Amino acid sequence: MKNKIKVFDENALDYDNWFERHNTAFQTELLAIKQAIPLHKKGIEIGVGTGRFAEYFGITDGVEPSENMTQIAEQRGIKVIKAVAEDLPIKSESFDFALLVTTVCFLNDIPKAFSEIRRILKPKGEIIVAIIDKNSALGKKYEAKKAKNKFYKDAHFHSTEDITAWLTQAGFHKFEYWQTLFKENSEQIEEPKEGFGKGSFVVIKAQK
Ligand SMILES: C[S@@+](CC[C@H](N)C(=O)[O-])C[C@H]1O[C@@H](n2cnc3c(N)ncnc32)[C@H](O)[C@@H]1O
Repeated sequence: MKNKIKVFDENALDYDNWFERHNTAFQTELLAIKQAIPLHKKGIEIGVGTGRFAEYFGITDGVEPSENMTQIAEQRGIKVIKAVAEDLPIKSESFDFALLVTTVCFLNDIPKAFSEIRRILKPKGEIIVAIIDKNSALGKKYEAKKAKNKFYKDAHFHSTEDITAWLTQAGFHKFEYWQTLFKENSEQIEEPKEGFGKGSFVVIKAQK
C-alpha cells in the first residue's frame, strides 16, 4: 500500500478525531463547501475518508482506498467503493456531482483522476474540489512543516490556478470559487466569500 494511503489506514481514528478537536475550522469548511453543493442531486465523494463531509451533505456514496477509513465512513451510513480516483470501477455518467475534500494533494496522477471523475459524471455534472491553497497562509505553513505532520508528510499542495488548469485540461468549464479560513485558529466560524486569493481553504466548482 502506498504511504499516502497507509498513513490514513494506520491512523484512521486519530484522523477522524481531528474534526472534534478542530470543530470551528470544520464548521467553517462545511459552510464554504455548502455554497457549491447542488440540492437534490446524486453525489459521490472521492477520497471520502471517514465520511464526515459526505454525511453532512447527505452524500450516500464514496470512493476510498483505505480499509480503516472506509470502516468509519460505513458506520456513518456511506456506501464506499474501495478504489482510487485514478481508476474508478464506476459506470460512466452515474452521478450529478463529485466532491473531493483535501484529497487532490494525495493523488498520484491528477490529470487521470480528473478525467476519470469527468467520465462518471452525467452531462453537465459538476466537480467540486476543496483544497488548502498552496499560496495561502495555511498552505505555506503546512508546506513548511509537512515533514513533521504524519498525514501531510507525503502530500503535494497545489494552488487554485494549478487545479483550474488541470480541470480545464480534463474538459471542465464554467468555474466558480469560494474561499474561507481567513484567520489562523479563529475561535469563530467564518463566513465564506466568493473568489480566491485571501482564504486558505478554497472550493472550486466546474461543470462537465
Ligand atoms: C486528508 S484525507 C480527506 C478525507 C475526507 N475527504 C475528509 O476531508 O475528511 C485524504 C483521503 O484521500 C485518500 N486517498 C489517498 N490517495 C487516494 C487516491 N489515489 N484516490 C482516492 N483517495 C485517496 C486517503 O486514504 C484519505 O482518506
